[in-house]
Amino acid sequence: MHSSGYERLQSQVIPGYSSLARLSVALLAASPVAQADGVEVMVAGCGTGAELLEAMAQRPDWRLTALDPSAEMLQEARQRLGEQATVQWRQSTVESLVDEAGMAGRFAGALSVLVLQSLPDDGSKLAFLTALARCLQPGAQLVLVDLMQTSLPSLEDQLEHAWQGFQRASGLDASSQEGLHPIGLARLTSLVNAAGFGDPARVFQALGFEGFLLQRLS
Ligand SMILES: C[S@@+](CC[C@H](N)C(=O)[O-])C[C@H]1O[C@@H](n2cnc3c(N)ncnc32)[C@H](O)[C@@H]1O
Repeated sequence: MHSSGYERLQSQVIPGYSSLARLSVALLAASPVAQADGVEVMVAGCGTGAELLEAMAQRPDWRLTALDPSAEMLQEARQRLGEQATVQWRQSTVESLVDEAGMAGRFAGALSVLVLQSLPDDGSKLAFLTALARCLQPGAQLVLVDLMQTSLPSLEDQLEHAWQGFQRASGLDASSQEGLHPIGLARLTSLVNAAGFGDPARVFQALGFEGFLLQRLS
């Protein structure tokens, strides 16, 4: 069951959306640094709270910081989680947060689900990834989930048609990619390396939506 119009739409557009938060949290919880008890974890671009709910269910010991620049998204997430939730709420981008005292090197792990894709590749993606890397302890991991350009050019048309078909079968008129800025794996690798991460390791994929583990280099 979906708690909001936003989540219902996401599950009609994004194959596997209902599993993304669960999978992402499970991956981070198994990482060498974030598997320790009581560590601090950042949910960057928390939206309406899917990853937060899952993190609280799987790892109630984690101390969570949830940030999103959108007041509406944060309000909906707070309503869903309830005021008793022990989450630090921040209306902010990661890029602004990292310059605050005590934020650099603070977090044992981070989640960024469907955020990077909305930033243009004009320095904005690099600024976001650099800020995430700076917030993490050396060796800590980021789970990054994003819409990617295909690395299989010969299947590009088929994958695009399949995505449109998925959306129609989910009851939507197929949507455009307006406002989305997907990049390919080579460009992602170059950006994350420049930001201070090792090479991205792809750990799951559904059509163009791919999940990666990134480790902050020391
Ligand atoms: C497509 S939503 C994804 C929300 C949630 N992670 C999910 O999977 O349902 C992207 C969110 O990222 C937020 N966002 C955009 N730029 C950001 C930034 N620079 N730092 C943190 N959050 C950002 C947006 O406000 C939006 O709520």
